[in-house]
Amino acid sequence: MAIRNIRKLGDEVLRKKCRSVDVIDERIITLLDDMADTLYDANGVGLAAPQVGVLKRIAVVDIGDGIIELINPEIVSCDGEQTDNEGCLSVPGKYGKVTRPNKVTVRAVDRNGDECEYTGEGLLARAFCHEIDHLSGIVFVDKVTEYLEDDE
Ligand code: NI
Repeated sequence: MAIRNIRKLGDEVLRKKCRSVDVIDERIITLLDDMADTLYDANGVGLAAPQVGVLKRIAVVDIGDGIIELINPEIVSCDGEQTDNEGCLSVPGKYGKVTRPNKVTVRAVDRNGDECEYTGEGLLARAFCHEIDHLSGIVFVDKVTEYLEDDE
């Protein structure tokens, strides 16, 4: 277990498309453990693999209910709409309004290789969308409609 360096906006790794995970080996398990450590160390709610420099379709999310590990996640359904402030560990100090679906269902594989499905509303839906965007090189600043005033 280790804390990895979080890449910041401007690092081109954040703009690349991630590859699907074919085999869940020891390196992937270590990556998942390290991503959780890194997320908690930074007091975040979600972290995607490219944020630690790894171009694989992996993300972790914890909105306070325990860690959710997502390997090869896909959003399979969306419902409603919400607009709220959002931030990102790769864009420290910047927050802005982003519109997201209010409810999403995500299908992914867990560390045992088992298919799993998660349905999240509100913040959890937002976190799923934000992290899955990272896997396509999309950062929340691409979707901000209005920044909070206390930004520089
Ligand atoms: Ni982010």
